Amino acid sequence: MALTTLSNSLDLHGRVVFLRVDANVPLDGQVITDDGRIRAFLPTLQWLTKKGASVVLGSHLGRPEGPGDTHLSLAPVAARTEELAGFPVPLLPGVSGDAVWASLKDLAPGDACFLENLRFDPRETAKDESARLELAEEWASHVDATVIDGFGVVHRKQASVYELPHLTTAYAGFLVDSEVEVLERLTSQPKRPYTVVLGGSKVSDKLGVIEALLPTVDRIIIGGGMVFTVLAAQGHAVGKSLLETDRIEVVREFLATAEKLGVEIVLPQDIVMAESFSPDASHVTLPVDQLESGPAGADALGLDIGPDAAASFAVAIEQSHTVFWNGPMGVFEFEAFSHGTKAVAGALTRVNGLSVVGGGDSAAAVRALGFADDDFGHISTGGGASLEFLEGKHLPGLEILGWQPPVAP
Ligand code: 3PG
Repeated sequence: MALTTLSNSLDLHGRVVFLRVDANVPLDGQVITDDGRIRAFLPTLQWLTKKGASVVLGSHLGRPEGPGDTHLSLAPVAARTEELAGFPVPLLPGVSGDAVWASLKDLAPGDACFLENLRFDPRETAKDESARLELAEEWASHVDATVIDGFGVVHRKQASVYELPHLTTAYAGFLVDSEVEVLERLTSQPKRPYTVVLGGSKVSDKLGVIEALLPTVDRIIIGGGMVFTVLAAQGHAVGKSLLETDRIEVVREFLATAEKLGVEIVLPQDIVMAESFSPDASHVTLPVDQLESGPAGADALGLDIGPDAAASFAVAIEQSHTVFWNGPMGVFEFEAFSHGTKAVAGALTRVNGLSVVGGGDSAAAVRALGFADDDFGHISTGGGASLEFLEGKHLPGLEILGWQPPVAP
């Protein structure tokens, strides 16, 4: 079943609309280092204000313990939203309560404001459904409709994502609608060859998606910190590189399944091994069967895929007609260890077909490395959410809007 989108919405003029976004942006102190997630919800915000809705924006930022975590205030987010939108978006003094309700009453058609970090109220993320419902009921008694445009959070059953849209008329915003449209192209009859590129630090975060994707993809390319558990499963010594020893056995199982299904698993043939985890650590490129043969011996740690690996990953990506990428190939934040991630991002821009960058770190990486958003078919704003979408998991924030995961054939 399809989403209920804004194109199905009734007249919102003079209505108070709760717009749930994902403005969980990376911060350096109080400075936003990548505002991609804010830019991504602007079309919905601007459409709503032009229609004369009074918009109350809600988002989480990080995982605060409570309102005392003032470094996770949405103040920088509200300020950046205001700058980009070109109209005032004041930050209200809380998530709920009399001062907030009084401000909502003062909103005129076309006005917008931001609630404080929704997770300052523990009921937003409470395991206890009745606590979440209590918070959602408070909001529902002060707003007329909910628009969900925070794709990055649709995999969370939280008060603003699930209970609130259950209590009010609710629609998907333009961002959520376009994310679903693109990700559905990956899950239903993707143009082949279909390649998935996985990186990032932990193999344990990706096992679910690997298992779900094995029957549908032609090739899985693996780099980043997670690759060392795969190399260890093949019997390689990996020095002090990231390693999840308790996952070696399950990795062996997926390698065997891949072989049985004829899915090509592409692993790096060389790795950049460093003496320490720092931007200027001395380092050497070594073949995967000799990772402990450098000057640091068994104390070395892998911080990037090597140049031969980067070149062969790029060829495999460019030969594909559908590519989904999640997770950097190395510590891209350090220039010396950013080459693998840069090579993979560059190859994605040359795909003759659909290339999708899957949220979180990978989205931040492509922008930090100087690529433009429109170099790619699509940059998802959801890291965890896009992986769970591909895994075919239940996504409460979409299901409450009428969407259902496709039934496996
Ligand atoms: C994300 O960054 O993936 C989303 O904003 C969800 O954040 P969470 O993992 O803290 O729920």
